[in-house]
Amino acid sequence: MSEKLDVVLGLQWGDEGKGKIVDVLASRYPAVARFQGGPNAGHSLHFEGKSFVVRSIPSGIFREGSTNIVGSGVVLDPVTFKEECGNVMNMGIDAVGKLVVSKKAHLILPTHRLLDAAMEAAAGKGKIGSTLKGIGPTYTDKISRHGLRVGDILAPDFKDRFERLKARHLQQIKDLDYDCDPGKGEAEWMEAIEFLKQVRLVDCEYFVNGLLSSGTPILAEGAQGSMLDIDFGSYPFVTSSSTTVGGVCTGLGVAPSRIGKVFGIFKAYCTRVGSGPFPTELFDSTGEELRRVGHEYGAVTGRPRRCGWLDLVALKYTVMLDGVTDLIMMKSDCLDGFDTIKACTAYKVDGKVTCEVPFDLAGEGLEPVYTEFPGWKTDLSGIRRESDLPKEFKDYIKFIEDFLGVPVTIISLGPDREATIERD
Ligand code: IMO
Ligand code: MG
Repeated sequence: MSEKLDVVLGLQWGDEGKGKIVDVLASRYPAVARFQGGPNAGHSLHFEGKSFVVRSIPSGIFREGSTNIVGSGVVLDPVTFKEECGNVMNMGIDAVGKLVVSKKAHLILPTHRLLDAAMEAAAGKGKIGSTLKGIGPTYTDKISRHGLRVGDILAPDFKDRFERLKARHLQQIKDLDYDCDPGKGEAEWMEAIEFLKQVRLVDCEYFVNGLLSSGTPILAEGAQGSMLDIDFGSYPFVTSSSTTVGGVCTGLGVAPSRIGKVFGIFKAYCTRVGSGPFPTELFDSTGEELRRVGHEYGAVTGRPRRCGWLDLVALKYTVMLDGVTDLIMMKSDCLDGFDTIKACTAYKVDGKVTCEVPFDLAGEGLEPVYTEFPGWKTDLSGIRRESDLPKEFKDYIKFIEDFLGVPVTIISLGPDREATIERD
């Protein structure tokens, strides 16, 4: 019998805790697939007292017997990929044997990274706050039809094509007046290409549809968050891929009718790294407290994350965009100590109240309108049964469910796999 492809997506500005949840859900799916993004993602997994950050490989890699697919919509940096595989293999896991990579995924060249840095340096105040992993320039080359794909590494003229693309990049870097070592990282990159040749390279669309048709359910794992989507996010302060549900179809080569559940992950508050609008951002001691309690520092760049209250207007928007069927609430325990908890339930735009995300989220006249909730002032992290949750917390969740019109089916109360409550 044909199986469905379920999806797990971050609904905010990234860093919602996707790693932990994919790791928890992965035991139910023999195959996990990444469909977009690249090593700008940093998915933290915590188990057996250890922490691990995956960047370009799916978070299912640690589950026994799993197949982990790097899809066509992904941009792959062979160096990061080799390094990550090495780290996983050092833990006694056969990373290479458990991975398949789409031949149609685009390659991040060392000069894509340089170009990313050159563009950010030239942007001055308008800079995006990119992770500098070469993501934007690689997707730019994909769309302008200049890119190199994973399958190209097997072609006899690969080296010539690499040189041609590199020369093009160096000209662009020169035009931006950016000073750098043009050969930086190239030897290491070529070595990593040789490593990539040992991995199973596939036609992802046939592979994924074949698995589904033969009865293997797949979990598609999103990177970044829906508010960073190239079309619907807070443009231009977004990433360069489709982080919303549509990206699953184009990134893996599956039809919309193949999609089953859409798990939408959100944190009980909001964070953002990099530049761009963030309506509920807090610049006071509450924001600092959220950063401290939630350890809100970037997994990839180490940058302190900007913090603020939960934005239900933005969340309702991404629930709509993604067709979320199940909500997953993360880091609820980080709100344990607050007397009062706030959630933004409307925006005031130039004096007018609205429940929709406006075209220009960065507009001057935008103010969040908050609803306040009494805090539960209870340590949630040790609770394992729903019936033991404090009333104030249950009321807070009920409000969120009613506002968004979707049930919260998983509540995470801490970083470990065990600190998770599943509801019927
Ligand atoms: P995960 O998967 C949070 C942000 C960057 C920057 C913007 C563009 O861990 O949730 P890019 O390097 O993609 O061109 O940067 O997007 N960004 C993320 N923020 N979590 C991520 O991934 C992110 N990936 C990119 O900070 O503002
Ligand atoms: Mg992250």
